[in-house]
Amino acid sequence: MKSVLITGGAGFIGSNFAHHALARRPDWSITVLDKLTYAGNPKNLCSLETNPRYRFVHGDIADPQVINSLFSKGLDMVFNFAAESHVDRSIECSNAFLRTDVYGVHTLLEAARRWPVYRFLQISTDEVYGSVRERAFREDAPVRPSNPYAASKAAAEALAHAYHATYGVPAIITRATNTYGPRQYPEKLIPLFITNALEGRPLPLYGNGDQIRDWLHVNDHCEALLHLVDHARTGDIYNIGAANERRNLDIAHLILEQLGQPVSLIRPVEDRPGHDRHYALDCAKLSALGWRAYIPFERGLRDTIAWYRHHPSWWGPLKSGAHAHYYQRQYGTEVFQPPDRLRGIR
Ligand code: NAD
Ligand code: DAU
Repeated sequence: MKSVLITGGAGFIGSNFAHHALARRPDWSITVLDKLTYAGNPKNLCSLETNPRYRFVHGDIADPQVINSLFSKGLDMVFNFAAESHVDRSIECSNAFLRTDVYGVHTLLEAARRWPVYRFLQISTDEVYGSVRERAFREDAPVRPSNPYAASKAAAEALAHAYHATYGVPAIITRATNTYGPRQYPEKLIPLFITNALEGRPLPLYGNGDQIRDWLHVNDHCEALLHLVDHARTGDIYNIGAANERRNLDIAHLILEQLGQPVSLIRPVEDRPGHDRHYALDCAKLSALGWRAYIPFERGLRDTIAWYRHHPSWWGPLKSGAHAHYYQRQYGTEVFQPPDRLRGIR
């Protein structure tokens, strides 16, 4: 049995990966470590509780005591998903980003130096490149992060690279594009727009909505990570993309159309500072290893919309309380209006 640590496994991609890996790798025994921040949700893992190959540890990747105790018992693989992940929150205040995304990664790498592992996957992001300049980014393009979140992820990558070069930690760095699917916290574009549309609330679109992202289904993202743990070269960086570039405005239209809601729900709001206009990746390096994304966007989006439609008890409570305060700060009162007030405005 291989002993596998998944950090941040109560969040969106980490929880999907925990489910995916347990189903796909019968010889893996998984420990999920998660601090359960606002973005971590034990409900994402509850169906795994009876699985003898799964256990949950509540803890912080920046806490050396917790980390050392896990590594000292012997780990084969580490998948580090744990992070503060939302760009807008990093623009509001980046302290937690530095603590988790940089110092937390340092804590993990220090432990991997002391108690060697077979593979250490640092889950990073295409945001480290910044906005596309001439052509889609290859892995050897210079990094030029535009927001504090992206900068914290770039710093973590630099540490992973340094620990590979200096101490031989078998780090592999993945840079994936915008990921979507079930169980994504409703602060990110797709789940926010789906849940707002389901509630009849406005869809707050930054600027004119012509920014472009490459949308990757979370199952394709998880499958790419399994492929890389088997085939990637340690010390290397791998882009993960879906060749599925869409304007934010078009995403908003698709969601409204599928939910039978009017286009008038789209509400242009003040643009994000430092907003990257366009992300695009050259994924030839990963393709050469025999991987490609399989899930067509139309199907992936339709299934994702269906998931949110059928799980209001998952996302409904997340949109009240502390999130409602964040939402009001981020978007202002007009967009924040509860649905009954908005009906009068439209
Ligand atoms: P998420 O915000 O949904 O989940 C993050 C998880 O990490 C949460 O469960 C949270 O509780 C946990 N966490 C935060 N700080 C922690 C700490 N100090 N110790 C332990 N756990 C902690 O994020 P996500 O969208 O699932 O992203 C997962 C990873 O993938 C991140 O590293 C992110 O940078 C990267 N990534 C995300 C995307 C995307 O589109 N969502 C794309 C590329 C890369
Ligand atoms: O590219 C990978 C990155 O994708 C990950 O590293 C991040 O963790 C993840 O959050 C995501 O970052 P983005 O900033 O691209 O995702 P977000 O969903 O916040 O925004 C997607 C696009 O939609 C972006 O151009 C901003 C725009 N947007 C977003 C929100 C939340 C809006 O127009 N309105 C919104 O309310």
